[in-house]
Amino acid sequence: MLETRKKIGILTAGGDCPGLNAAIRGVAKTAIVKHNMQVFGISSGFQGLIDKDYVELSESSVSGILTLGGTILGTSRVKPFKKKKSKDTDKPKLIKKHYKELGLDCLVCIGGNGTQKTAAGLANEGLNVIGIPKTIDNDVWGTEQTFGFDSALSIATDAIDRLHSTANSHKRIMVIEIMGHHAGWLALYSGLAGGGDVILLPELDYNIKKINSYLLGRAKKKKPYSIVVVAEGINVPTKQSASTYISEQIEKGTGLETRNTILGYLQRGGSPTAADRLLASSYGAHAVNLIANNEYGKMVAVVNDKITSVPLEEIGGKLRLVPSDHPMIERAFGLDICLGGKHSN
Ligand code: F6P
Repeated sequence: MLETRKKIGILTAGGDCPGLNAAIRGVAKTAIVKHNMQVFGISSGFQGLIDKDYVELSESSVSGILTLGGTILGTSRVKPFKKKKSKDTDKPKLIKKHYKELGLDCLVCIGGNGTQKTAAGLANEGLNVIGIPKTIDNDVWGTEQTFGFDSALSIATDAIDRLHSTANSHKRIMVIEIMGHHAGWLALYSGLAGGGDVILLPELDYNIKKINSYLLGRAKKKKPYSIVVVAEGINVPTKQSASTYISEQIEKGTGLETRNTILGYLQRGGSPTAADRLLASSYGAHAVNLIANNEYGKMVAVVNDKITSVPLEEIGGKLRLVPSDHPMIERAFGLDICLGGKHSN
């Protein structure tokens, strides 16, 4: 008996990042070429399923997108399970209706923590769902790696590298704010790779007086300048951005001339690195292999350096933060980097 052709939907949700198109291509090519599936690209995250806005993807429509930044499908931060008012439309109901009308056998949701939580919610409602983790923040629970992180790390490291020469010319303190939401992975890794002298993470408390005395100590040792890497998610007592607050406190407390850079969305733009292309493509292919085996309700993941999958229900609502005993933190202490002054340095 002939097996019926499987139909799958794919969407990208949450903030964009490099590698999304590589993942879309990985899913679509594997599904179409290897498994003879039909693939629908859903527009603008979950909004596209609410509006039934989609296009059929062919092998040729995903050709040439491997290296492109952003997402050809568009994205949004629409959270279907979040109701603002009781009379709001029942979005999960609309999603289920359109999933059925399209005849989907599975929905592939590429996104960060919020997206995986929604994906788990839809799986709970009876839909077949597979999650693929992406984000420059690298904070998705259940996986050691999200694609997007390596590209953002390169961009942030390059930016920190460039601060050294201007800092040296003017003998200044240079503060730079790095994205990452509530997690410090990007600030920690780029701070280490870029030779930051102070690195502040949301996961570790800081003491501004200790940071200032560390910076004054460097000036006394005839170090002409210092680089301070600040994760956007650190706690600050004012409404200012994290780095704006820190740079003001440093200049006031040390009397050393200080400048601030907020790197912002540059960290999310442009072409993915080779590592992100490989990870996104591998995740895409693995997601389709799960679908071919009728394995649903899972998120593809890297565990112990291997591509595998974890149950979606274990992920929802959890964040993967930098543990205080992480080897990179030990490494930073070993290099005499100040991590806020409340711990060893
Ligand atoms: O999650 C990725 C990220 O870039 C975070 O690092 C940042 O806090 C957030 O998205 C910014 O979100 P938005 O695109 O909604 O401004």
